[in-house]
Amino acid sequence: MEYLDFAVELAREAGGILKHYMDREKHVELKGQANLVTIADKESEAMVIRRIRERYPAHGILAEESGVSGGSESSSSKWIIDPLDGTTNFAHQYPFFCVSIGFEHDGEVLCGAVYDPCRDEMFSGARGLGAFVNGRRLQVSEVDQLSGALILTGFPYGVRQKMKTAMSQFEAFLFDSQAVRRGGSAALDLCYVALGRCDGFWEMDLHPWDTAAGLVILEEAGGRVTDFAGGPFSVYGKQIVASNAKIHNEMVGVLQNLPSPSGRG
Ligand code: IPD
Ligand code: CA
Ligand code: CA
Repeated sequence: MEYLDFAVELAREAGGILKHYMDREKHVELKGQANLVTIADKESEAMVIRRIRERYPAHGILAEESGVSGGSESSSSKWIIDPLDGTTNFAHQYPFFCVSIGFEHDGEVLCGAVYDPCRDEMFSGARGLGAFVNGRRLQVSEVDQLSGALILTGFPYGVRQKMKTAMSQFEAFLFDSQAVRRGGSAALDLCYVALGRCDGFWEMDLHPWDTAAGLVILEEAGGRVTDFAGGPFSVYGKQIVASNAKIHNEMVGVLQNLPSPSGRG
């Protein structure tokens, strides 16, 4: 598929930019209290946008650092880009980050690529065509009980304002699952569920660029993705529960049965 091939090509090239800066001066700046941006985020995004504009000038673009740009009024095609997912890890040279590029048409993400330059793992997926890592087909795990599941999560940059909610979710999953990990790259988290390295993932307050590519990769690997109530997921929504499908209802049950937060969020 043309758009998938292009997403893979761009993700690999952008991953090269991240790799280049990994052990060099990164010019780390703060966007918020804990939200970082580096020269690698900016260069990676500029390169990806320039290449898309050259190839598909009519397509729209939604990218984390520069927002909405390009595209003709009539175009229903949009590229959704996270030039560096896992910036905090990257800034600390913790090798868990990636580039995420999704392609949406008529409001549906049709394909996407997520590239981890540290492990040289290229995750890709397209509707109806399956999902792959370095060309090998992906299939979610067989774990069918939350008590035996390895679960991933992440915290939004605004977690300090939602501490009680975040901790009550974390506590409930810690209690009901085998173990919980917090890796620091939502796009890779989704791909790890697709690969069967873990069994489920949840997070609040993500953005379209965090989830667009990972969504199609995980669904094509046999996974399920919803909001916290088990309803349809949208990359423009805030809540995500993603799983190997078998433990999905149990995960939704955990989030639905939390005590309502009081005090600090
Ligand atoms: C962040 C990562 C992290 C998640 C945060 C995201 P960024 O993206 O995906 O895992 O917990 O909510 O904002 O800022 O590194 O691109
Ligand atoms: Ca991100
Ligand atoms: Ca980012």
